[in-house]
This record gives sequence, structure tokens and C-alpha cells, in this order.
Amino acid sequence: PETITVQELANRMAERGGEVVKTLMKLGVMVTINQTIDADTAELVVEEFGHKLRRVSDSDVEIGMRGDPDDDSNLEPRAPVVTVMGHVDHGKTSLLDALRASDVVAQEAGGITQHIGAYQVHLASGQSITFIDTPGHAAFTEMRARGANVTDIVVLVVAADDGIMEQTVEAINHAKAAQVPIIVAINKMDKPEANPDRVKQELLSHDLVVEEMGGEIIAIPVSAKTREGLPDLEEAIQLQAEILELKANALRAAEGVVVEARLEQGRGSVATVLVQRGTLRMGDVFVTGNEWGRVRALINDRGERVEEAGPSIPVEVTGLQGTPHAGDDFVVVEDETKAREISEFRSEAKRQSDMARSGRGSLEQMLSKI
Ligand code: GTP
Ligand code: MG
Repeated sequence: PETITVQELANRMAERGGEVVKTLMKLGVMVTINQTIDADTAELVVEEFGHKLRRVSDSDVEIGMRGDPDDDSNLEPRAPVVTVMGHVDHGKTSLLDALRASDVVAQEAGGITQHIGAYQVHLASGQSITFIDTPGHAAFTEMRARGANVTDIVVLVVAADDGIMEQTVEAINHAKAAQVPIIVAINKMDKPEANPDRVKQELLSHDLVVEEMGGEIIAIPVSAKTREGLPDLEEAIQLQAEILELKANALRAAEGVVVEARLEQGRGSVATVLVQRGTLRMGDVFVTGNEWGRVRALINDRGERVEEAGPSIPVEVTGLQGTPHAGDDFVVVEDETKAREISEFRSEAKRQSDMARSGRGSLEQMLSKI
């Protein structure tokens, strides 16, 4: 099985060896810096540090870090990826619909299209913003956690008539854990009960201090209904994006993340993929989660067929052999042989870890009976 020394793991994450040893101790693994650990343990450590792990094949443990710049010199500016989060019914989807309605390109093309959970809004300035919608229902914690990890900026939607609620707090915590800047959109300002000052007060108790109170958090009053404040929100996002100096290399093989995936009659498995680096093209062979495929069609967020999709572009992909999961990585590889090999390896690794887990379960059950 795969192993890696603690030192090498620390190097690849650019973390101090001592910190990695400490983290391993927390996980109940007592090792020194020169000892080796197995890939599953390494994966846990990587997650503890908040990095993203990519295990490409048996002989090739590759760890990429979130926000790690491409080391080659072909970096070009890319659109910011903005994830919209907040409590159920606070108006996330309505806000995105309203922002899309102002999309200069969509207007030219004749208006609103289908819902794929991720889309680009083209601003009059010529720049664009990629938005990812997330559900506010309590059951979707995992989706929000993943959302926070693939995004550059979180827009936290808080209804002005309802204030900070349970999933608002959860979203704040995900954004903080992922170290992603937060812009607050105080929505439903058209309602007579709207109380933006109360929202700002409540934000304080979660260490989010708005500018008016001497802090750094930008809070924009908006209404998805009347469209009040939408240009201000777009401007705040653009300003934040400029500070982040977001770049990617469009010239390499594509890498990204699955935003949603489903099985559709007549189309087979369909995945909405956010391309993070490189350019995804028709015919590309890829691995995603435990699945693989060859790009048969690429459909953009306006329902049009496209030949390719570059960094920060969300695109629907068909040509999958199976249905991946939201949050799975998406990596273009050289050929089908490699793709099959990796997906088989990953399926086997998953089977083994499932088995180990159920084994542990029964041991616990046995012990509890003693
Ligand atoms: P989930 O995805 O279920 O978490 O909800 P959501 O946050 O996407 O909320 P959604 O956009 O579905 O809106 C919920 C309700 O609030 C709908 O009935 C909207 O019409 C209403 N709503 C959203 N924004 C506004 C607004 O600015 N003003 C008013 N008056 N109603 C709004
Ligand atoms: Mg919604």
C-alpha cells in the first residue's frame, strides 16, 4: 500500500514537521518525523490542515493545496468564484436570479435559462463573476462546507426581517474555517419589517464587524424583489476579487470540482463542473471521484453547446461512465487506460475503507456488550 514519510507530507503541504507530528498525535497516531504513515492516515492529516488532497494513483500521491498558485508562468486573471450561503428561505436563489437578469450577455442572448446551480454573470464592465448557489436547509451541511472550500468569496445572505439564524451561523463557520472572505447581503430590504441594524448587531456576536462599526466586513442592503442594491453588491464582489488577485493557467489540462451530478434520461450521467485551472475540451478523458469518462458534450450555463471551458467557468459535462458526487475532484488525464486505472484504484480504496469502517463498527458493538 501507499505510504509517505511524515517529513515528506509536511513538505508537500508546506507545513512544519512538528505540527504534522502533533496533528497525528491528536488522531491517535504516535510517530516521529522520519517514520512513514499510510495514505489513509495522510489523507486525514491533510484534511486536518484544511488542504485538499489529490491521490492520483497507487504510485503517485499528489497533494495540491487550495489556493496554491500554479508554478508555471502562464497565469492569467480569472473570474472570482462566489458561493452564496445563508439560512433557508433568506433569498439566495432569488438574489442569484436577480443578478443573472442583469447579465449583459444573457440579455443579448434573449434572457434567463436553465438552472444548473452555478453560473457566470457578465458585468457591464466586461468582467464576470461565477456564482454557486447552495441550499439553506439544515440537511445540506456538507454541501455548504464543500462550497466554502471551492470558493474565493462567500456572499452571506441574511434576510433583514429574520436576522441571523442557525444556518447563517453555520455558513459563517464554514467560511471562517476555509479562510474565505465574507460579504454580507442583507436581503428583503423591501419588507416593512426589515431591520438591517439588528442584522449588523447580530453579526457582531459572531466576530463579523461591519465597516460602519469600525470593522472590515462589508454589508450591502439589497432586495431581490426590487433589485435595490444589486449594483453595490456586484461592485463589492469585484473589489474583493481585485484584492485577491485571482489567476489561473488556462493552458494546462483541466482540473476542477463537481458542483452537482445526476443521472438524466437520454443523457446518462451529467455533471456540472467548475473548471478551476486549465481548459476542458470536447474529447478530453477525465477522472472524477471513483468515475471516469470522455467529454461528449459541454453545455454552458445558458444551455448552449460550447467547445471548451476555461478557469472559473461552470459547465455541464456529459460522457461519464457513472455518476460522481458533488464535491468530487475532476481531473483530465492522458488516456483511457490511465483513467480506468485511477478509477479502479479509487473504487478499491473506497471498498476497503468502507470495510474497515464496518469492521470497526462491529468491534465497537462487541465491546459495548461486554
Ligand atoms: P433555500 O434555497 O431553500 O435555502 O432558499 P433561498 O435562500 O434560496 O430562498 P429563495 O430565493 O427561494 O426565496 C425564499 C422566499 O423569499 C421566496 O418566497 C422569495 O420570493 C422570497 N424573497 C426572496 N428575496 C426576497 C426579497 O428581496 N424581498 C421579498 N419581499 N421576498 C423575497
Ligand atoms: Mg435556494
